[in-house]
Amino acid sequence: MNRVTVTDLKRMRDRGERIAMVTAYDYPTAKLADEAGIPMILVGDTLGMVVLGYDSTVPVTIEEMIHHGKAVVRGAQNAHIVVDMPFGSYQTGWQDALRNAIRIMQETGCSSVKLEGGQRSAETVMRLVEAGVPVMGHIGLTPQSVNTLGGFKVQGRTPREAVHLIQDAKALESAGAYAIVLETVPTALAHMITQRVNVPTIGIGAGPFCSGQVQVWHDMLGLYDALTPKHARRFADVGAVIRQALGDYRRLVESGEFPTRKESFYMDDRALELIRRMTASDAEDMSEAERVMAELAEDISRPNAGGPA
Ligand code: KIV
Repeated sequence: MNRVTVTDLKRMRDRGERIAMVTAYDYPTAKLADEAGIPMILVGDTLGMVVLGYDSTVPVTIEEMIHHGKAVVRGAQNAHIVVDMPFGSYQTGWQDALRNAIRIMQETGCSSVKLEGGQRSAETVMRLVEAGVPVMGHIGLTPQSVNTLGGFKVQGRTPREAVHLIQDAKALESAGAYAIVLETVPTALAHMITQRVNVPTIGIGAGPFCSGQVQVWHDMLGLYDALTPKHARRFADVGAVIRQALGDYRRLVESGEFPTRKESFYMDDRALELIRRMTASDAEDMSEAERVMAELAEDISRPNAGGPA
């Protein structure tokens, strides 16, 4: 296995190669992302909304992140895999954060963790990095704080907020974050931040001047309708394809056209005949049943007994 490392990502950024990142939450989606050559996969806590059906990312637990993180690590051989630290797993102090980050790294086998917050999370980021845990920062719209932000809104529009976000990015860089997600901030501000830090910035709703982009799997592929952010592009309507396929399946089951001979299994005619005789009403007489059993045993012990499966 030759996973993309934090050094590879820095090199890509320094060479001006844009980094494509996508979320994945299970084995098959991680495998598909890896096969498409995506260098970075995020096991985002968005899984709470798009996979588990919660209203926000707030209820997601560390056990849920680990469960999905393990599946993604099994599915992708090459991509750098980032697992989100869920709400409550790092806000209570750096010691708790370190314990939880180590648990996520050890139990999932992921490459790094991501946590939200700039200056407020900088000490935690520093402690994790010092302990050997690569950390990706996340600023701008930080969905775990949706209740204090007052909704999913663009961040950094006023000069005061913008300066604060630039300071957040600088604080994360100084703390040792190897990359920073910029979510739902104006393009010009994301550009400014990208120019002022020396680590890759990965944008989502942050315009084209970031070092890379991240998109949520279900938004990209038409699999989640409850919330459609302006920044999400639907690259394919897989949801429509799945609905069509399931409708076809239901109709063919109901009409008896599925399964066909090709999709079924057969047994040897002689074995079938013996079974018929064994289970015929006159075989209720035990002596007859025993005779048929003996005949069957003799029959199947002969070479080439039994037909193709
Ligand atoms: O959880 C997630 O999917 C994320 C992305 C939106 C960046 O954090």
